Order: sequence, then C-alpha cells, then structure tokens
Amino acid sequence: MPISASLATLTADEITSNRAILEREGLAGPDVHFSYVGLVEPDKRALLVDGTADRRVRSMLVDMATNDSWDVVVSLAQGAIVSTHKLDHAVDGQVPVVLDEFHVVEVIKQNPEWQAAMAKRGLTDFDKLVINPLSAGVLSEAETGRRIQRCFTFVMDSPDDLGWAHPVDGVTVMFDVVTQEVLEVVDYVELPVPLESGNFHLASWRGPDREGVKPIEITQPQGPSFTIGQDGRLSWLGWNLQVGFDQREGLVFHNITIDDEGTARPVIYRASIAEMMVPYGDPSPQRWFQNFFDCGEYLLGGFANSLELGCDCVGDITYLDAVVAGNDGHPNVIPQAICIHEEDTGILWKHTDNWNGSSVSRRNRRLVVSFFVTVGNYDYGFYWYFGLDGTIEFEVKATGVVFTSAYPGAGTGSSHYLFASELAPGLGAPYHQHLFSARLDMMVDGLGNSVDELEAALVPRGPENPTGTGFTQLVTRLKTETDAQRLADNAKGRAWLVTNPSVQNRLGNDVGWVLLPEGRPVLLADAESDIHKRATFSTKHLWVTEYEPSELYPAGDFVNLHPGGAGLPAWTKADRNVDDNDIVLWHTFGLTHFPRVEDWPIMPVDTCGFVLKPHGFFGRNPAMDIPESSGDHCAPSGHDHGGHEGHDHHGH
Ligand code: NI
Repeated sequence: MPISASLATLTADEITSNRAILEREGLAGPDVHFSYVGLVEPDKRALLVDGTADRRVRSMLVDMATNDSWDVVVSLAQGAIVSTHKLDHAVDGQVPVVLDEFHVVEVIKQNPEWQAAMAKRGLTDFDKLVINPLSAGVLSEAETGRRIQRCFTFVMDSPDDLGWAHPVDGVTVMFDVVTQEVLEVVDYVELPVPLESGNFHLASWRGPDREGVKPIEITQPQGPSFTIGQDGRLSWLGWNLQVGFDQREGLVFHNITIDDEGTARPVIYRASIAEMMVPYGDPSPQRWFQNFFDCGEYLLGGFANSLELGCDCVGDITYLDAVVAGNDGHPNVIPQAICIHEEDTGILWKHTDNWNGSSVSRRNRRLVVSFFVTVGNYDYGFYWYFGLDGTIEFEVKATGVVFTSAYPGAGTGSSHYLFASELAPGLGAPYHQHLFSARLDMMVDGLGNSVDELEAALVPRGPENPTGTGFTQLVTRLKTETDAQRLADNAKGRAWLVTNPSVQNRLGNDVGWVLLPEGRPVLLADAESDIHKRATFSTKHLWVTEYEPSELYPAGDFVNLHPGGAGLPAWTKADRNVDDNDIVLWHTFGLTHFPRVEDWPIMPVDTCGFVLKPHGFFGRNPAMDIPESSGDHCAPSGHDHGGHEGHDHHGH
C-alpha cells in the first residue's frame, strides 16, 4: 500500500463507519451534533518507515441538550474507539460551532429586553429583523463553561434585501445556545439604522451592464498538462503532490516533490492553512469581543462552495468533490469544491542578446489548485500555485460583504470615528484584520532541516568597504523555538531560508527553499488583550517548531470559547531544538483592512499570501527545459532574426 493511501481524505464510507461505531458505543445520541470529523494522520516518522498505518478518525461531538462534549478517536480497522476525552470547558474550551447554533438564536426575539431595545429604535416588525450570532470568546467568570453566542441584529426590508446594509447598532445579546437563556443585553448607544440598500445581487439595483465586454475564451485543444490519480495524487510537469481536503483546514497537500533530472526530490511533507482569524478593531461595548477564528471556531472547509464552470473557473478545469461530515455525522459531499487547472502567467524567462544577436523567450504557466468558502458575510478563495521555476505561491482572495455598523456622527460632515470607515450614508465598516496561519511541515530533501534568517545589510565603511557602497546578505541561524519567533522586516528584505545541512548543491552549499513574506501587520491588539492570548500565533510572522504529530492548530485544538494560551505559545515553552531537526514552519500573513468606499456593497477581491522558492536547491535555473510556445506570433528561438544591425552591442 502506498503512503498516499494512509494520508488520503476520508471517504464517505469511512465517515459512515465512524458514525456507526460511535452510535454503537452510545456517543451519537439524538441531541449529539458532530462538530468536526476528520482523518487522524499517522505519525510521519513511523509512516515514512512503515509505509502504512491504521486509518483513524477524530470526531468532536457536542450534546446540545446537556453541553457535554467529547473528542473521540476511532480505529476503522478495529471498529472501536481508541481514545475518548470529555472536555472540561473551563480549561479546554469547546468544540467548534455547529449549524444548530445559527438557528436557536431566533428565541431571542421573544426576549422582552431585546424587544424593548428594538422598540426604542422604532423597530417593531420583528419579522424583518435578523439575529446574527457571533463566536463569543470568554469574557467573564459568569460565562465560563457555558456555550455562548453574542448576537447582533440587522434589518431586512424585504425577503430579498441585503441585511448587512442595515445594522442595528449598539445592541449585543449574550445568549446561551444550550439552555437558550438570554444572559445579558448590552444596549449602550442609539444610532440611526442605515437606510440605503446595497442589493448588488439584484440587476434592478445595479443598473445596466457595461457595454463592450467581449468574451475571453481559454482553450487547451490537447487537454491540460496534469494528471490526477489514486488518493488525489496530482502530477504536473515535474511536480507531484497529494491533494486532500479537511473540514477544518480545507485543502491539505502531502508529499510535495519536484523533479530534478528524473529524481522526485521532497520539498514539503504537509501544507495547509491551519487557522485564520478576523479581529475587529472597534473597542466599543457592543463589539470589542468581535473576533472570528474561521478554521478553529467555524471549520471553514465545511463551507466550501460548489464551483461553476465559466463563472468561478475558466479554461480546462478538473473538479474534485469535497467529502466532509455533516453535523449529523453522515457524509456530506460538496460537488465541484476543488478546482484544478493551468493558467498562463506571462513570461517565464527572456533575453535579447546584443552581443551574440540571440533572442530567446519562454512563456510561464502555473498549476492552480483552489477552493472558495463562504463564512458569514465574507467569501474567501484559497489558491495554491505551483510554477515551472519551482515557485510555490499561496494567495487568499478575500471578497464578499464587509461587516457593517452604524457610523457614529454620520452626516455631520466633520465627524471622524477612530475605529471604522463610512461606506454609505450612516453605514460604517469597523477596521479589522484577516490573519492566516500557514502550517508548512517542511521536508527539503529529507527531514533534517534548519532555518536561516536572511536580510540585507550595509557593510560598515572600512578596509572592506572603503567607498561606503558595499552591502551584503546577513545569515543568522534560528536555533531554537524561542529564537525562531520572528517578525518580517521589509526595509531589510527579511526572508527565511529552510536548508538541509546534510545535502549540498553542486557549489557545496546546503540546499534550500526560501519563504518570502509579504511582511504586512501582525495582530494589532496589545499584549494584555483577550485576543492576544487567544491568537498569540498571529503576533509573529514566523514560528518554527519541532515536528510533533498532535501539534496541528496554532491556536490550539479547541479555539471556541477558549480562554487562551493554547497552541504555539504553549508548545514553544519547551524551546526545542529546530536546527537540523524535523521542523514545521508556521507563517502568519494577512490583510489589515481599513474598508474603502469602493468595498461597498460587495468588495472587489483583495489578496494576500506568501511565496516559497527554491534557493540553491537546483544546480541552475530549473526551467531551462521548457519548450518554446507554438503560437503564431512567436518567432523561433536562438536565431538572429534581423533588426540588430546598427545596434550598439555594448553592455549595460
Ligand atoms: Ni476585510
């Protein structure tokens, strides 16, 4: 059995078997919701030796009648539970949000305090009001151990109205979704509900289409250059990788290798986006708690869209379905969730040589593996790109509707609220960030890897640099987990090089792969804040840890209603060696979003991400073997096709 069989995404049959075993063991009662179901990956160190492992399934369960919850692992081969942990909510946090919690909040409409708060604002037709439950964090002793949602209210003027255009500001309801009690209604400020509609989904609202938009057709008459085989093994022009999908992380890749003259050389053992978190920067009593962990609290993979050819993806597309579990524990197949295609990306390399008269160029293309999710108001595309020159790039496409508020002091012409933009008359959008954590289990030519920090530096004026124009690259080894908690510094071009000290290139240097960060702001909240404790991972651009199979999520396993401190800050207290060791890189990147007027009513895609490139891994440009394109307008290579006579053939 190939290793890929042990790492393949759970099948519908395996999800069904898992449920049957838990039911037989009395853990799938009528009020039990399956919050998360996923593959327990075998320990890499054993799998790479043994080549095979038991298929195990992890389920996170919550009984919505009692608020008991469990973290259970089942062995499918043994047909039995191999471990059960009943959560102590005050210490462990809680299992992720289940869909039922979005519905039970309707009960709030019967609460007299909420009704009074709405009536005070002239809102008496409760059928037009939408209760919006938000993940809660842990704010007070009184709430500890409870399963809570904090709820805002929005107005929908009609069933097809966009409710985000009409936030009812100043009111937050603290609601226990198990006991269905309203614990508190915060009602601190009265602001007019913004009236202007934002119904971009209605042609009548948008107005006429722009004229003159002609079709662009992308055709690949001989089909795409990739093949996809068993267990999601994907091959493309020298790249090999296994495509998987998880309810929490979405796309997961295993065993990414790249061809070097016939040898498949490992680069990354496992790559995923292990967390994403959206902290809001408005400290007002209504929304200071507002932070969403879209992986850890909401399990974004389960919200993958079914993609449509010609709209979401163009060209010669291969789709894969995503198989996840529903909250009932049964398999839920999301058709066409994963999109695989090739994209032309312009010039790969090109030179016109004024001395020998040659003119050579090659076109670039990339392999794209992507999916799109909707998490509440926002939509995110997760795009992984693999390039002919060895570049691996990850890009988030953030779109959808920004979270809205009423804008304090709207219409006065002189007001400026510190913590939000005004997008339409009286409509605000609180400042916020979208912070992602990529978990990159590196395997550059083997398991023993190290990380060097690279940065540009002036060399002090002196005998080595008499003119003051000398600059160099500083290389600093990050030896332990404490050393390796780093911020980017774009003024120094700071980057992180993952090397294998046991493998050298033809020049005698350790082979490597470099992580190029975008270096945008990390978490903007002070060290004593609630969110700093819960999302410490997002306070550094880089963490490096020793591989440990249970260390998967940078804010811990149970982020929902967790008091904080879990994940990276807890693990790295051991300050383990990360020099020439089996290591995992955790890279924080993201957007700091001060919404623009143009982001309303639907936001044009904004992007963030990171790049990985081979750095001394190959012996030269690895894309010398790319054939020239056969387009009508592409001249043959290597020839002097005139026009050079009379040029000055001198260097620059
Ligand atoms: Ni945003």
